[in-house]
Amino acid sequence: MSDRTHFEPLGRLRGSLRPPADKSISHRAAMIAAMGEGETDIVGYLDAADTRSTLAAVQAVGARLVDEVATESIDRDDGLGAARLRIAGVGLRGARPAAIDVGNAGTLLRLLPGWLAGQPEGSWTLDGDESIRRRPVDRVAGPLREMGAKLAAREDRLPPLEVVGAPLHGIAYELPVASAQVKSCLLFAGLLAAGETRVVEPLPTRDHSERMLAAAGAAVRREGDTVVIAPAERLEPGRIVVPADFSSAAFFIVAATVIPGSDVLLHQVGLNPTRTGLLEILRRMGATGIEISGRGEDGGEPIGDVRVGHSELRGCEVGGADVPLAIDELPLVALAACFAAGTTTIRDAAELRRKESDRIATVADALRALGGQVEATADGMVIEGTGGLRGGAIDSHGDHRIAMLGAVAGAASEAGVEVANMAAAEVSYPGFEADLASLQQSPPLRDPVH
Ligand code: S3P
Repeated sequence: MSDRTHFEPLGRLRGSLRPPADKSISHRAAMIAAMGEGETDIVGYLDAADTRSTLAAVQAVGARLVDEVATESIDRDDGLGAARLRIAGVGLRGARPAAIDVGNAGTLLRLLPGWLAGQPEGSWTLDGDESIRRRPVDRVAGPLREMGAKLAAREDRLPPLEVVGAPLHGIAYELPVASAQVKSCLLFAGLLAAGETRVVEPLPTRDHSERMLAAAGAAVRREGDTVVIAPAERLEPGRIVVPADFSSAAFFIVAATVIPGSDVLLHQVGLNPTRTGLLEILRRMGATGIEISGRGEDGGEPIGDVRVGHSELRGCEVGGADVPLAIDELPLVALAACFAAGTTTIRDAAELRRKESDRIATVADALRALGGQVEATADGMVIEGTGGLRGGAIDSHGDHRIAMLGAVAGAASEAGVEVANMAAAEVSYPGFEADLASLQQSPPLRDPVH
């Protein structure tokens, strides 16, 4: 039975919050801590279904959760608090054989095999939920095999994926599609390979792995569009700090942009330029109500406070380099485009069909069901802005980002939106509904922008 949650139109959004910890960085933090020597502290690890899968996976291969401290008991300079995990690693070459349940986590499915493939011995199976079983693994299996890895997948391209540890050698690999997951997988494998591994990106993608591996002592460098990694004896991560997730903040950024009268402040959000393509797209759509202040750094990642007010939007063209920089926010771009004047075209985004759901189909269907004029194309969408959405009912199809898209659509709609299977939001953002509701009830911010 799927749950059904109703999201009423909200007059305006007011208030401030800190979105949850970054999912991409949390996955990497647990894996790099597991590869590390000794104990690693992870400050602000995301406590959500996806990252719980990663924590269980690294424990299955022998890493130990030494200590876990809940949010309230940690004092940070910023006073915002964060949970802390202490993980004892197994070392780069010490992963124990295991059957691994990746749940719904595509990042875990694609990154972990890079590390496991180069182990001196052992074998592993990675499998997950119904959605994960539709997600391709040939994109990592192909280049890993070129490095000498032994892998087998269902129909040679789908989970379950079996990995047998083998000696690896470095390769130069040109990514056929811009994918941070594939890049990161090959960088992990490169740590264990003989000689250098070079990964050429057709377009820039998120660079968290490079930053985190370098901080843990790996020799990783960028040469133009190529990331180069040298083999490593050991990693010593020591301490990893996880900033708030821009992709989670994005739901409120778009909500506040399209709901008149809104004034929302999002604290200490990760602002890595390889993640914030949405801001650039919204600017092109005419959003003038987004201000960034308090820029700083947290754990080697740029952060800042994002204050968002309502703007009138116009349609725009989205494609090329925009796509990897806003890959998880493109559903929200489509939503914003419904509120804009004129046409928005999203191109070069066929990758959306390979996410937790076929996001070209699920987003176009959802927005149409709510009164949007949206046409799905092979590699994107064409949206005729009508200045708003009527409302109605949608299904998340078990996809966390579609569930939260529905909630934001409801808040911004004329008549409200009912979302079937809202529980999917737990994958990346437990507490999302409460956070959205809190912005309805908060008093106005002092010194409002509008
Ligand atoms: C991710 C990279 C992106 C993104 C996914 C998380 C990561 O996938 O869509 O949600 O953590 O590296 P691709 O790199 O495969 O496009």
